[in-house]
Amino acid sequence: MTPTSTPDDTDDTDVADDSHDEGSTPARIETLLEELTLEEKLSLVRGAYDPAGNATGYVPPVERLDIPSLSLVDGPMGIRAVPSTAFPASISLAASWDTDLAAEFGETIAAEARAADQDALLAPGFNIVRVPQCGRAFEYYSEDPYLTSRLAVAAVEGIQAGGVMATAKHYLANNQEADRHHVSAEVSERALREIYLPAFEAAVRETEVSSVMASYNRINGTYATAHRWLLTEVLREEWGFEGFVVSDWWATNECAGPAEAGLDLDMPGMPLYEWQEHGSALFDAIDALPDAPWMPKRELAEVVTRPWQPPNPNPNVLKDSFFGEPLREAIDEGRLEESLLEEKIRRLLREMARFGLFDGDQPAGELDTPAHHDLARRIAERGTVLLRNENETLPLAGDERIALIGPHADEPKVGGGGSSEVDPTRATSPFDGLSDRLDAGGSITLAHGLPPVGDASMHDSLLPEIPTPWVEEPRIEEAMAAARDADVAVVVVRDLATEGDDRDLALPGAQDELIAAVSAVAERTVVVLNTAGAVEMPWFESVDAVLETWYPGQEDGHALASVLFGDADPSGRLPVTVGARAADYPASSEAQYPGIGGRAEYSEGVFVGYRHFDEAEIEPLFPFGHGLSYTEFAYRDLSVSLEETGDSSDGDEPTALATVEVTVENVGERPGREVVQVYLRDVESSVPRPPKELAAFEALSLEAGESRTLSLSLTERAFAFFDEDDGEWVVEDGAFEVLVGRSSRDVRERASLEY
Ligand code: GLC
Repeated sequence: MTPTSTPDDTDDTDVADDSHDEGSTPARIETLLEELTLEEKLSLVRGAYDPAGNATGYVPPVERLDIPSLSLVDGPMGIRAVPSTAFPASISLAASWDTDLAAEFGETIAAEARAADQDALLAPGFNIVRVPQCGRAFEYYSEDPYLTSRLAVAAVEGIQAGGVMATAKHYLANNQEADRHHVSAEVSERALREIYLPAFEAAVRETEVSSVMASYNRINGTYATAHRWLLTEVLREEWGFEGFVVSDWWATNECAGPAEAGLDLDMPGMPLYEWQEHGSALFDAIDALPDAPWMPKRELAEVVTRPWQPPNPNPNVLKDSFFGEPLREAIDEGRLEESLLEEKIRRLLREMARFGLFDGDQPAGELDTPAHHDLARRIAERGTVLLRNENETLPLAGDERIALIGPHADEPKVGGGGSSEVDPTRATSPFDGLSDRLDAGGSITLAHGLPPVGDASMHDSLLPEIPTPWVEEPRIEEAMAAARDADVAVVVVRDLATEGDDRDLALPGAQDELIAAVSAVAERTVVVLNTAGAVEMPWFESVDAVLETWYPGQEDGHALASVLFGDADPSGRLPVTVGARAADYPASSEAQYPGIGGRAEYSEGVFVGYRHFDEAEIEPLFPFGHGLSYTEFAYRDLSVSLEETGDSSDGDEPTALATVEVTVENVGERPGREVVQVYLRDVESSVPRPPKELAAFEALSLEAGESRTLSLSLTERAFAFFDEDDGEWVVEDGAFEVLVGRSSRDVRERASLEY
């Protein structure tokens, strides 16, 4: 057994200025700390209302000492503060398996944040998609920790290279929306280390991510915002994190616990109806009420809003900040040291100095430009996964008579509900995108086929839907008639995912019936899925082609047209497994998900996603890594060599343990993009290990007939498992197998390796 402490693909490129070197803190910050009053110090560890009304979170300036304000803004798919580019869902970026694209996205969204005068982006979010029902699966990347890590590092590096502080969220194990403010993830240290921590570890060690957001939930009974092992022992003492820990909004439940555990900034720092950025009419009305002595506004708000609270209300949403009066009292009474408060401020000011806030040395950025729209389209194209394509139904020629069907086929699916919502200045629907792209002779007939299934938002109006009985509801028969008169039926369907709630795996409304009815009469049927993640597809054998386009963002219709008509090769590969039925997924018992009595048992351990499907030998509907292309690829000449095992230094030096070389050729008639995937199997291990685990990948474009030999590195961590008894990573001597292919179930080349 070789103890290792080397993280994956470490790259100690320091994107920061000198403020992080040797843990130094610019002398001026120390001077400021000496000059700040207690009142001023307390104002720097909790949020306040942004006078500009744009920031999601705001730390006010201390003008007396020329300390600037700090503006933090959502989210992972675009800048929430102002009308801005609505990029595709994070899971769409993940489906591209393209780290260069992720870095480009990071730099671009940073430019939009800067143009909106924001200093920190509350993104990327990269919790592991442990359960497909997770309402925020669209905001995350994958079920696999390695793919998640590589994308997280690329996106964070891009954001920070763009002069904006990135926020790694939601730390940790925030893998479901059900009961999110209270549920405890009961999870082993090995599963934490091998599945849930790696992407956060990579973001800290490899990018010096500026901040980490502590999540709502509990981990093994302790709230993330008060979890000392996570916030101090792992994050700071083990990984060397020097940034600041910000709470999720109203995620702080008390004062001393979080303050001592390592929480630095409590957001938003005020009750919901004072945080007016997205306050509802109801809260605005409350705010207009006088503070009656017999019923202070806080209690009134609680009483009045109770009927409208969501299923799992946040218990703190109407409270003042725990880092306000309660923290002052704790310091005044000597229960907490003022030096603890100063350390929090030191971390925050150090990041502000690092990103030029003191010197006004920040990029101006640019917002909502054609180049940004082009990137949004490219991500949506690259993230589109061709799940099924019988008889080369796709690509379309462009001169077909198309029946475009679906209750929202003439609306773009910009995103999901919740804090990631973006308000684009333009958005293209499938109908508009296909209409723009049609060739001469082509035609489109639109048929909704069903009444709207809706568009989930966490900011839904508190007022109930007003029924409109006089409006004739679209009917499936209309859609069938349109399909009969067409050469091809393109059926666009969607789910309804939002932060704050989990999602069904079945498509909402009668969309499954619509697809079945259309495919029964259409000459060819193409289904386009706008979903947050995996869905059930009872009709999949009766349709000719299926495209998963996730939430494509504002360029929805343009990207769909590009792929449907073959201008772009569908190069997406599944970042999550699509199971045939809900019971096939790893966390299929109630105790595992959503949990019983506030405890979700992560009893599947490291067998998350495809790791479970492989271990349990369950055939998925579509496996992790799956995605068809319009061309074909051949693999040959796999070779694997073991490097000198670098000494496991202090975790800052990359330790490439093995190099995998393989040649890939485009043996089809048209250009295409391939994602070469390398999995590793520990043939003989002393602990149960997944049959294969993703260890490297590369996305590349190849012209017809072109071949390329790739060289991919496997780090020591790829071979290791976390030994809970010894509390360290170990690689056991013995045989390993390298599997190279185009999905976790489509292995094209194998090689053995002796460690
Ligand atoms: C939300 C989300 C978090 C977001 C924050 C601010 O509840 O969990 O992702 O950044 O609050 O909107």
